[in-house]
Amino acid sequence: MATNAFVVTADGSKTLFNAEIGEHYHSKHGAVQESRHVFIGMGLSYFLDLHQPESVSILEIGLGTGLNFLLSADYCIRNQVKLDYVGVEAHPLSAELIAQTGYNEYVSAALWTSFLTQYSNSWSSPQVIRPDCVLTAKDREILHFTTGKRFDILYFDAFASTRQPEMWSEETLRHVCSFIKTDGVFVTYAITGHLKRTLKGLGFSVEKLPGAPGKREMLRAIKI
Ligand SMILES: C[S@@+](CC[C@H](N)C(=O)[O-])C[C@H]1O[C@@H](n2cnc3c(N)ncnc32)[C@H](O)[C@@H]1O
Repeated sequence: MATNAFVVTADGSKTLFNAEIGEHYHSKHGAVQESRHVFIGMGLSYFLDLHQPESVSILEIGLGTGLNFLLSADYCIRNQVKLDYVGVEAHPLSAELIAQTGYNEYVSAALWTSFLTQYSNSWSSPQVIRPDCVLTAKDREILHFTTGKRFDILYFDAFASTRQPEMWSEETLRHVCSFIKTDGVFVTYAITGHLKRTLKGLGFSVEKLPGAPGKREMLRAIKI
């Protein structure tokens, strides 16, 4: 039996259901809607508005289907900002499966084609998706990922803490937060007392924000 099966979410966009974990890759209330609200709106757009940079670097924990990458690249292209994107993923999906997501509907045809063509190579070397957009994918468990790079924004898109508590442990959060620059942004779709306390303890100022439809609240934190 296949581990992953497609499900249509409330906004008409698809997600995957991972039967082993017992969890969807995105919100059932709208996969694209959630990504746009949490990662693009509260993360990327917030950072670009505040700092007006010419380029931005993003580290994503849980690259999955590449939806957050695609929407981020699309947003950066429209705002003429260069993008350096690194996605960490313990269980990479095949290009064949990603081709069936239908996410081509939400980005330009040129971006979708470059992404699909270069996705498989992005696991072995950085891929220039466009001259102003580089994608690097790392196929490893997050605790085995390391880099000398520091990032402007960290998208923390792990499965829920009820399903994968180890992803939300102090050890994992300390590790991922070490890759964020001062003034950099940590953003995720969920919020708990444990998460808030841990991030404050790691030197972040923490904000509770309205969540994506179907979720009351989410968290953004800034590295002080
Ligand atoms: C909620 S889904 C992410 C969805 C993804 N951002 C997307 O847009 O499709 C969580 C992802 O984390 C990955 N993952 C699970 N355990 C991991 C680990 N220890 N290290 C890195 N990635 C992990 C899963 O395979 C899955 O792709």
